[in-house]
Parts: sequence; C-alpha cells; structure tokens
Amino acid sequence: MSAQLIDGKAIAAEIRAEAKVAASALREQGIIPCLAAVLVGDNPASKAYVGNKRRACEEVGIESQLHTPSADISAADLLALIDRLNADAAVHGILVQLPLPDHIDEDRVIERLCPAKDVDGFHPANVGRLVIGLDTLRPCTPAGIPELIVRSGLEVSGQHVVIIGRSNIVGKPAMNLLVQKAAGANATVTVCHSGTTDLPSITRLGDILIAAIGRAHYVTADMVKPGATVIDVGINRVADESAKQGYRLVGDVDFDAVKEVAGAITPVPGGVGPMTVAMLMVNTVKAAQAT
Ligand code: GUN
Repeated sequence: MSAQLIDGKAIAAEIRAEAKVAASALREQGIIPCLAAVLVGDNPASKAYVGNKRRACEEVGIESQLHTPSADISAADLLALIDRLNADAAVHGILVQLPLPDHIDEDRVIERLCPAKDVDGFHPANVGRLVIGLDTLRPCTPAGIPELIVRSGLEVSGQHVVIIGRSNIVGKPAMNLLVQKAAGANATVTVCHSGTTDLPSITRLGDILIAAIGRAHYVTADMVKPGATVIDVGINRVADESAKQGYRLVGDVDFDAVKEVAGAITPVPGGVGPMTVAMLMVNTVKAAQAT
C-alpha cells in the first residue's frame, strides 16, 4: 500500500492566492504590505530561502525590501538596522534569515524586533502569546503543518501528534500550536528529542508524526505507526553526482520506505517547504492589516 501524497506545493499556492486577495484589499485602502528581509552574509541555503520568499511576495502583491549586510557586520550595526526597520512605517514585516554568523547573538536580534513586525513569530512576546492561546504572528513552518493536514481532508483534533525535535523554530512552536483548543489543533502532543529513551516505541504511537530533526532519512519505516500521517520538516543536502548542483535535497524521513507504511506523507521537496513561504505571506498581510 502506498500513502496519500500531501501536496504542499498545491496547498501553498492556494494559501498564496488567499493572501493575494487580502493584499489587494489592503492596497485598495492605500496600504501597500511590505516585508523587509535581512540576509546577513552569503550562506547559499539562506540566499535560496530568501529568494523564494521574495518571489512569493511579488506574486502575492507584497512589496519586498532586501537588506544584505556582510557576514562581518557588528552586532551593534545589525541592531541599528533593526531599529531603522522597526521605525519605518512603510515596513510591516521584518524577517531576519537565520542562522546568523557566530559572533552575533541571535536571541538579542530577535528580541530587538518590534513584536508587531515579527512575521517569523520568534519574539518572546509572540511565543508567549502562542503558548497562552492568544491571537499572534505564529512561526511559519509550524503554522503550515495543520494547514497541510486539514486541507488534505485529514483530522488533527483528537489525534496523538508525536514531534521529533525541540527547536525554537519548529518543535516547540508546533507543540504549542497543536495543543491549543482551536480549529486545526486540539491534539494530544508528545515531543521527543535527543534525550528521549527508546524513540521508536514513542514515535510508533503517533497518529501524526512530525520529523524536525535535521538529519537525512532519520525516520525509518519501523518508527511509524501503520496509517499515520507523516510530516517531514527536514531539508538536508546530500551529495549526488548525477544532480546538476552536485547535491539533492532530502527530508528527515526515509520517504521510499515510510510511504509504504504511512497513510499520508509529505514529500521533500514540495511538502512543508513551500508552506513556510506561504505562511510568511499570510503573516505579512496580517501584520499590515493590524496597522
Ligand atoms: N532559518 C530556518 N528556518 C527559518 C525561518 O523559518 N525563518 C527564518 N527567519 N530563518 C530560518
């Protein structure tokens, strides 16, 4: 048996189309939604992600600014750039692409963002609002997960969601989002991590299994409950001489084996990735609506 393929590309296109309608309504009121992206240094993966985000802005009708300080920018200068963007009324959303160079404290940069412009939902004020169930800008990758599941005709409410990975970008916000008493949530949530004993015995309990570990093909078929929905958040580069760039992208899930056990599964690429970008468009429109 082969699992239902969850088409993140198609669902993301649907969400971008909805964001486009909302953006054009704002434009009619004289508000031009604007996202400022800050890309520090020249990490190739970060460059590619920011490029995707800017292309999506163009499609949706969101103006985008790109700020590209070099990798040796001082923390003070980067904070000064954030201050300028915070103060600029024409900028509704600010995205600081992570990771930042080692000499810069990411937490300090995130805390400097005006929470109302924090379209990544990483500021502690937004994280706190998410935890207590208040309306907020929600981290894009986790926010895309229930959209993928519900728009594929599957259920989240009442399901046991097992998350592998406790990062601040995916694992922890996904836990906080999915546990809320709300539409597209209301799940029972278990979070596993590198300190978990006998991981497969727990992942096999998941009606929904979310893999956010950052290790290629880490989730094998024996770790998956038959019929489960498997959401693969991983984007890992593995060497592939037959590929044009010399590498290909694979997820955290051993897709070919797991699809024979799962009930539904996201591919990599074309699953979670495009959703992250689509949810960023939703957040930017939302930030602009709030002004
Ligand atoms: N780096 C990896 N994922 C993300 C994300 O969702 N937002 C930002 N800003 N940087 C990232």
